[in-house]
Amino acid sequence: MEKSATDWRELESRVFMRTGKRQPPVLVRGEGSRVWDEDGKAYVDFFAGIAVTSLGHSDPGLAKALADQAETLIQVSNVFYTVPQLQLAELLVDNSCLDRVYFCSSGAEANEAAIKLARKWGGLKKDGAFEIIATLDGFHGRTLTTITASGTDKYKQPFAPLPPGFAHVPYNDVDALKQAVTEKTCAILLEPIQGEGGVNVPDDGYLPAVRQLCDDENVLLILDEVQTGVGRCGALFAYELAGIEPDIMTLAKGIASGVPLGAILSKEHCSVFEPGDHGSTYGGNVLACRAGYEVVGRMINERIPEKVAQDAKHVEQRLHSMEDRLDIVSGHRGKGLLWAVALSREEAPAIVASCLERGLIVNNVRPDAVRLCPALNISREELDEGLDILEAVLSEVSDG
Ligand SMILES: Cc1ncc(COP(=O)(O)O)c(C=O)c1O
Repeated sequence: MEKSATDWRELESRVFMRTGKRQPPVLVRGEGSRVWDEDGKAYVDFFAGIAVTSLGHSDPGLAKALADQAETLIQVSNVFYTVPQLQLAELLVDNSCLDRVYFCSSGAEANEAAIKLARKWGGLKKDGAFEIIATLDGFHGRTLTTITASGTDKYKQPFAPLPPGFAHVPYNDVDALKQAVTEKTCAILLEPIQGEGGVNVPDDGYLPAVRQLCDDENVLLILDEVQTGVGRCGALFAYELAGIEPDIMTLAKGIASGVPLGAILSKEHCSVFEPGDHGSTYGGNVLACRAGYEVVGRMINERIPEKVAQDAKHVEQRLHSMEDRLDIVSGHRGKGLLWAVALSREEAPAIVASCLERGLIVNNVRPDAVRLCPALNISREELDEGLDILEAVLSEVSDG
């Protein structure tokens, strides 16, 4: 007998580790910016697998590239040269300010590699400097070192003792960073926009001032663009919008639109890894890199970041109008297609549930903020369809 959605949920509660809460639907199919659950109900997807499926679901070009690659070669390891990996590496280097690439399979792994690279650089070039300054509310992954780098205590507490050598300062506060830098500091690690921390957009002058501080103090700037990169913010990389260049950048999430792939990129002057320093069995495997090459290539050739920047104006206009009219909306913040609707009360989980009920997937990035991060190729009609549902739900809450 076929299992029902209830059966699947019961199975999950019996056999799956309890690492997080799920939303009720059992999702079985997706196309573009729409997904369907087991009962055939359709949802507009403003979540995109946590800001990942940049080309939407079941994109025909990506599906074809994957099928073709799967029939040709999936994995041979980094012990051999492989063509899609080198094509993708060249594409990233040619279209960024960075000089060298190494691939892995997730954002946390990319940040682990960045931390290792910065520490090795500090050891070699800055008299053993090893400390990394990161930001409160920053998020860099769930490995032991990346939870340590992240700025949220509840992710860390159960797992002590944590690796030493990390300090934290408030985000968007250059003076705090200045005070925290010592001769032991090898790097500052932060997101151009804090994603998981609530879509926190810093003041315009923040990133240039951080860059200047790094130059003055001989400290590397690591930008975690796992969430903001590859078109999400209306430029291929968010650092472009700030008019600065990082020394190290990490990517994952949208880079392969759902196929696990991460990357660390660095400038030549700090590319201090030598054979034996780092590695990954799956990292940069042929299948994932073929997907990444398709996605990054499409971002560039189809000028998707420019389209995203246009969408941003529309989204901002609509959120602004909601803020004007609805008391539950206290603000909005974001760039490109990464937005948070700030709420005047901590009702985000209930709003997410109501949206789901009406056929829109969003998430509560904080108790008082709902995040919108749809596919980057979402159509204007679908964008409005989702925003209409969100507006209807927020109106209901405001009236009530
Ligand atoms: C900015 C940032 N860095 C790192 C990560 C971790 O990425 P992953 O979950 O692929 O390890 C995330 C995930 O949300 C993120 O938003």
